[in-house]
Amino acid sequence: MFNSLFRKNKKQKTKKSKIIIANWKMNPQSLLEAKLLVKTIAMTKSRHKKIILPPFIWLRELIKITRKKIIFGAQNCFWEEKGPYTGEISATMIKNSGCHYVLLGHSERKKYFNEDYDIVNMKMKVALKSGLKIILCIGEKEKNSEISHQEIKEQIEKAFNKITKENVKKIIIAYEPSWAISSGNPNDPENTPDTPQNAATNAIFIKKLLVKKYGNSILNDIKVLYGGSLNSKNAEEFLKEETIDGLLIGGASLIPEEITKILSYY
Ligand code: PGA
Repeated sequence: MFNSLFRKNKKQKTKKSKIIIANWKMNPQSLLEAKLLVKTIAMTKSRHKKIILPPFIWLRELIKITRKKIIFGAQNCFWEEKGPYTGEISATMIKNSGCHYVLLGHSERKKYFNEDYDIVNMKMKVALKSGLKIILCIGEKEKNSEISHQEIKEQIEKAFNKITKENVKKIIIAYEPSWAISSGNPNDPENTPDTPQNAATNAIFIKKLLVKKYGNSILNDIKVLYGGSLNSKNAEEFLKEETIDGLLIGGASLIPEEITKILSYY
């Protein structure tokens, strides 16, 4: 049933505008560098929707200077609304600073801070309540794992626990297998991106899971992006995949020549 729905959908579409997200992680180290990079991205002509996730500390200034040319998001938030949580940032603070999105479930949060999808689910609820939209990372840990679909299924089940149908359209999913995340240098030969075909298969798998949970009517609202070791050489092939709705880019999003090239593709 889903396959016929999907085919019908595919025929209706020609080249579509996709979503390109720049996840700067803990970079750059100065506001000056952050401003230069954001200006370059803002000035680059692209058919795609641009979303940048800078470190918290640069957000306000960058939002001020780009004036609606770029959509901004934060890289994390806390699961409580407010209170005595030293060092944490609330979803409402992020919303009030002018951001539209928050990234949750990133594999580096899972690896270095032991976050699991029960925690991610708590953060999703508080973020949605504050009016933020979500970029949710989903992806298996090991390459060529026989249980990768099972892992993805469990992550989706936990993350979407008690998330209403109306809220599904406020969530962009990034399929980012943990093993594919780069060393930070987009040209590092050790990086191991997924293949566009496999990423597309997993994007369909994720869409199927959500259609099963929420019904056929949400199919057009589900966006699944790919992320992991993308660079200006491999990005276009992923963008060409009909079922991949965009890209989540780490290391390459910090290099002006790389990100401007990627934004100009397809
Ligand atoms: P990468 O990072 O492009 O450097 O692999 C992607 C991500 O972590 O979101």
